[in-house]
Amino acid sequence: MLYPEQIIEEVRLRNDIVEVVSGYLKLERKGRSYWGLCPFHSEKTPSFSVEPNKQFFYCFGCNRGGSVIQFIMSIENLEFVEALKFLADRVGITLPESEDPKERDRAKRRKRILELNRQAARFYFKTLAGENGLEAQNYLKNRGLSAKTIKKFGLGYSPTGWDELTRVLLENQFPEDLLLESGLSIRAKSGELIDRFRGRIMFPIFDIRGNIIGFGGRVTDGSMPKYMNSPDTPVYNKSRELYGLNYARSSPSKRLLIVEGYMDVISLHQAGIDFAVASLGTALTKMQAWILKKYSEEVIIAYDSDSAGQAATMRGLEILEEAGCNVRVLIMPEGKDPDEYVRNNGPEKFKNLIDRAISLLDYKIGVKRNMHNLDTIEDKLKLLNGIADTLAEHDNPIERELYAKNYAREYGISYESLQEEINKRINRKSRAGDYSTSMRDGRGRRLGGQKKEDFDTRYSELEYMLLVMLCHENRFYKLISENYSPESYRDRKAGEIARKLYKKLEENKSCVLAELLSDMDPGSASYLVRLSKTKGEISEPEKAIKQILNKLAILKLEDLQKQTIERIKNEQDGETRQQLGLEFSIRAEKIAELKKMV
Ligand code: GTP
Ligand code: MN
Repeated sequence: MLYPEQIIEEVRLRNDIVEVVSGYLKLERKGRSYWGLCPFHSEKTPSFSVEPNKQFFYCFGCNRGGSVIQFIMSIENLEFVEALKFLADRVGITLPESEDPKERDRAKRRKRILELNRQAARFYFKTLAGENGLEAQNYLKNRGLSAKTIKKFGLGYSPTGWDELTRVLLENQFPEDLLLESGLSIRAKSGELIDRFRGRIMFPIFDIRGNIIGFGGRVTDGSMPKYMNSPDTPVYNKSRELYGLNYARSSPSKRLLIVEGYMDVISLHQAGIDFAVASLGTALTKMQAWILKKYSEEVIIAYDSDSAGQAATMRGLEILEEAGCNVRVLIMPEGKDPDEYVRNNGPEKFKNLIDRAISLLDYKIGVKRNMHNLDTIEDKLKLLNGIADTLAEHDNPIERELYAKNYAREYGISYESLQEEINKRINRKSRAGDYSTSMRDGRGRRLGGQKKEDFDTRYSELEYMLLVMLCHENRFYKLISENYSPESYRDRKAGEIARKLYKKLEENKSCVLAELLSDMDPGSASYLVRLSKTKGEISEPEKAIKQILNKLAILKLEDLQKQTIERIKNEQDGETRQQLGLEFSIRAEKIAELKKMV
């Protein structure tokens, strides 16, 4: 453990789970719990619940659950320590420097790289404003950018010399390895460090806190490559960042518009469309989709209309849909990108395009429609099949029907035959999707990566249940610990948890389930919360606990009986066999007695 337990608990307690979750999704109170649409799987009716009293969340749809810490780990895709920092930051707790020297070193280096990036950005900005930046300044002016916009986005210019930035940074006491690690310098064949970016317009990339985490650099002529970007570094991971989000997140619009390029974002913001962001020259990733969902109620995708753009749109749509975003597709007029369009036609025209953005289904069907020219019956059949495929994947039956009627009319096919094709596919799908999830986490994985041998489901469920009950009813600590010590647990992981829980209770402290979950892996946490939600609300806890202890005792005795039978079978010595037989019958009586009590 990297931090003392009290601090972890302090961070947990100060971050009310209802408040934290509300920052990501809309919650509605019903009775004792809050309900909303699960952010971890795609759904149309709420099965995600948050318990204010117990301070945990649970989704009845995908079985994920845990405390506020697991929630942040999952939704922000963070490791435990990072999630803890995130939550500590949120409530103004300063975590002590981590005791792990490696983690401390990493944190220090990250901080130094951010300082270095900031100095580099200042250097590029000054170069752009200076004599050597005149050509670049003209270029930006020709592309319609105002001085204010250039300043807002911190644009700059990297000089054409070999090592001008590198020299400045070295003079400012940044060591060589840090320059290399930041990606701003590279080692030349001669062994010397030189600048990565030379003679390019520089676009600093900001994270949402305003740190400069990397750069993109564009040539001012037609040479190749058009753009160069920072490599991934300790502070920059291009699959998680969205260019422009630092501004777009505070737009009053609840939408985010996703475009392809730096210039698109900048141009749109200058035109007052302040909710544009760009994925950084890569295909949209899952993590970016999470982030888009977190900061918006609706995502509008505006990629180029060429075929590469169309393919990218399709892939992007699938990822956004999977992440549970509300998505619409903005159709760019042939051959235009958002930057050109808004510059030539003005913000109002662009806003019209936004208003006319079409639904996901319409877009998908439209793409299929364009693949066929509908002159032949064969083509019509193919389109019919394509539409049926797409609609069968759509969850909402009412919308499905509406769309089916529309498409049937639009493409001159019979509604009945379309409906029939859709139903065929839905039936096929539901037959294929039947599988059991017991003792597994929400994604069907075996819990906590345990090996088969120490995962005997007969014991595990009872043992975990015991732990859950003990968390809810601390007063039964004596009853439970005297009958079932940590060593009694057959499930190795449950035993470890028991040891911790018993220790907390031994020291006369209380412990609630959410606290116990704090440093657990998401799979185990989900499992415990699931037990608590589905089986933990018991009116007579003492009776229930005794029953579980009883069942466990019976299980153990029965296992011993099996072993004894084996031994009797293999035993040559008559006397020993008799002794074993006696043991067997005594135990059998005991089992019978215990069973009467259940
Ligand atoms: P302009 O051509 O100046 O309008 O730039 P743009 O931002 O509109 O770029 P474009 O639409 O051509 O490309 C979209 C994004 O893809 C850019 O913003 C870059 O992030 C990335 N990109 C484009 N060309 C290259 C390249 O040659 N190399 C790399 N690594 N990324 C590129
Ligand atoms: Mn462009």
